[in-house]
Amino acid sequence: MKINNMLILFIVISITFSCKKNEPKRGLVTQKAMVVSARIEASIIGKQILEQGGNAFDAMMATDLALAVAYPYAGNLGGGGFMVYRLNDGSIGALDYREKAPLAATKDMYLDSLGNVVPNLSTRGAMAVGVPGTVAGVFEAHEQFGILPIETIIKPVIALAKRGVIVTRKQEFRIAEKQQDFKLANKDSILFTKAWKQNDTIKYNKLAETLTRIMQNGSDEFYKGKSAIILAQFIQDNGGIITEEDLANYEPKWRTPITFTYDDLRIISMSPPSSGGITMAQILKSVESYDLDKYGHNSVKTIQLLAEAERRAYADRSFYLGDPDFVNIPQNKLISNDYLKNRMSSFSFEKATPSADVSHGTIDIIESDETTHYSIVDQYGNAISVTTTLNSGYGSKLYCSELGFFLNNEMDDFSSKPGVPNVYGLIGAKANAILPEKRMLSSMTPTIVEKNGKLLMSVGTPGGSTIITSVLQTILNVHEFNMSMQEAVDAPRFHHQWLPDEIRMEPNRFNKETINTLEQKEYTINEERSPIIGIVDGILVLQNGKLEGGADSRGDDAAAGF
Ligand code: GLY
Repeated sequence: MKINNMLILFIVISITFSCKKNEPKRGLVTQKAMVVSARIEASIIGKQILEQGGNAFDAMMATDLALAVAYPYAGNLGGGGFMVYRLNDGSIGALDYREKAPLAATKDMYLDSLGNVVPNLSTRGAMAVGVPGTVAGVFEAHEQFGILPIETIIKPVIALAKRGVIVTRKQEFRIAEKQQDFKLANKDSILFTKAWKQNDTIKYNKLAETLTRIMQNGSDEFYKGKSAIILAQFIQDNGGIITEEDLANYEPKWRTPITFTYDDLRIISMSPPSSGGITMAQILKSVESYDLDKYGHNSVKTIQLLAEAERRAYADRSFYLGDPDFVNIPQNKLISNDYLKNRMSSFSFEKATPSADVSHGTIDIIESDETTHYSIVDQYGNAISVTTTLNSGYGSKLYCSELGFFLNNEMDDFSSKPGVPNVYGLIGAKANAILPEKRMLSSMTPTIVEKNGKLLMSVGTPGGSTIITSVLQTILNVHEFNMSMQEAVDAPRFHHQWLPDEIRMEPNRFNKETINTLEQKEYTINEERSPIIGIVDGILVLQNGKLEGGADSRGDDAAAGF
């Protein structure tokens, strides 16, 4: 009897111990609703809008504008973005509020008389700026689906701007790092040409004034009102070409998202002018038939397989993708099983396929890396996934002091000259050449995942060209490698983009033996280029219906919910 009791006790302790040992490290878990973004201030404002009965689209406006205040590195009024949604009835859609080229833009606007790309012209200062789309985007989403009054949504953001936002350690570093660029891009000193230190509070009074006018006059304030007049004049005074007409002409566009299946998942992601959805579909469909779960997370075989699929997909991206209103994209063919099987036919686990041997596939019918992402799931079961950007950190570094915000340098996402890489090292072709009013190709990949017809995940990240591969690795981490949302966003990441022909890896996060084996197979490994790859935020619906937030520990990101 005594021995039996001891045996039972031993078994109970063992089970408890082994369960504890295998318990995943979870992020914030809530019952009903959640916002995950780059700053706790923005996540809390979004959550409070939900608590007041607002839905995901109300919270989108609040979170997006709050990021413009709390995270000027990438949050913005002077940039643009993409939103993918899934309503509680299962219907889906996507909103494109990407910047576009001004009317006076020309194909060769960044080339000198000899046809060479003029350094910095497409990345710093007024010529780099595309017509901003953010204000139009958040108002469009609200008009279509929002339920709370605009005042209720924007007032807390204005209060935040007036109250000010505390500088974090990471922010202190980023502001210090960009001082030289701020000075080169701006004629006068700006709010950020100051040695801001951790725990200082930056107050954004001019931005609060602009937001107040937007709250009172709506999106027209930004595109046709006082703010538009100030903005166009400011850009031209600094040598740029955006006019009041450009601002007045700006319109966001509803798009049909890219959808595809991977095992029993249905993935819903952004369509062109973002390359995100198509490129991610190409990569995931190329590897679907392999046993990734057996190969193991970040094993040699998994890295090889994904890198080879990425190499081929990015070669196609460079050739075929651009603004769908200007170029004919063979979308269905690019993500069809036959086409992808053929693309992967040259792959072998024996050794690397050199990128020099990989071009875009043949299809007959054709004639800063810094951004920010947030995910929201509301208490009604609606989900949104939003990625928004100024392009590089602080965009063009040109800061309109009168309006209180930075302007994007999104024009660099066009291909200034075929074959010449942009800031992300991405090579472009004719499909992404500059034309007036055209939208520049993006890598932003706001994504929603369904399983068995139900919402499973909302996920996305900043990171320029690495966005697509970061998002797909996060999905695979959950689906193939059984990670929690928090573990999935924190896991080490790698990236291949065809050219340059290398696997970029986060430094000191991969097994040396894995790296050696890959090098023996003739892969070039680069651990220098990217100290971090992506800052992924996501929300996972757990089996018990609760929500788990994954806020990437690479940034100051945070989840808030109830
Ligand atoms: N500016 C980064 C992107 O749109 O991909």
